[in-house]
Amino acid sequence: MPGIKGQGPDGEPLERLDDWDEFVASRYPEGESTDSGRRKRSGEAFRDYRAEARAGVKEFYKLNHAHQTLEFVEAKKEQYLKFDHKRMGIWEAIELLDTLVDDSDPDTELSQLEHLLQTAEAIREDGHPRWLILTGLIHDLGKLLCIFGEPQWAVVGDTFPVGCRFSDRIVFPEFFELNPDSQDERYQTETGIYEEGCGLGRVHLSWGHDEYLYQVVKDHLPLEALYPIRYHSFYAGHREGAYDHLMDDQDRDMFQWVRRFNPYDLYSKDDNPPLVDELRPFYEELVEEYLPGQLSW
Ligand SMILES: [Fe+2]
Ligand SMILES: [Fe+2]
Repeated sequence: MPGIKGQGPDGEPLERLDDWDEFVASRYPEGESTDSGRRKRSGEAFRDYRAEARAGVKEFYKLNHAHQTLEFVEAKKEQYLKFDHKRMGIWEAIELLDTLVDDSDPDTELSQLEHLLQTAEAIREDGHPRWLILTGLIHDLGKLLCIFGEPQWAVVGDTFPVGCRFSDRIVFPEFFELNPDSQDERYQTETGIYEEGCGLGRVHLSWGHDEYLYQVVKDHLPLEALYPIRYHSFYAGHREGAYDHLMDDQDRDMFQWVRRFNPYDLYSKDDNPPLVDELRPFYEELVEEYLPGQLSW
């Protein structure tokens, strides 16, 4: 169903799912990242991302922040971590995700497959290990949640811990007023239901494509690949350094890979579409090297 102006399919706030990715790239322009994961603020003209956000993007964040409660996240894990939605291999999953075509401007927009291949190719060009190239190829396959019927706000968007106080360094923090967890006194401290330094593995993050794909592939890839898959949308963590108090030593060590991966995701978009047929044999072999022919989704 074609969306009305300023609205996506079925009245969803984003015209295209990628409007969120583009908003993040405009919030964190290329070259601004720091190795520490904390943005330098002194002396830097701090841009107001609100001015750059389109109405649809704001509406999207409002829904996301209002509905991502601890209870919601636990319910989605219950629903999806039975992995009884589909059995399929990686290439079939890529092709299925690629059927998510936006109505707005199909001629100029990159498809999901093109974004995955451009991310992977940029990583390959820089001579990174094969598992990081594979990470580029598959990192957004959790967006299949859209095809399984989830609304945009439960698939994309910055992720953040639930079950503890929402940080004001999460984008559009004012929308958390609408979240029922903001009224629950168990969740109003910095650590909430967690313990200081407990490690992110014990922390529930808002539900979306990162966590879902992590759960699908977690038995097959090295930790260095799993971290970018699981946390690439956790900007309050890897760009703003807002959740150091929940991290353990492994998280601190592995977040170097989240930070190394992130620019390839944000800045590898190129108008020249990759030559899919030429690249496919290389990537089929790479997938086979790490992953079984069929996975449970
Ligand atoms: Fe993503
Ligand atoms: Fe991506």
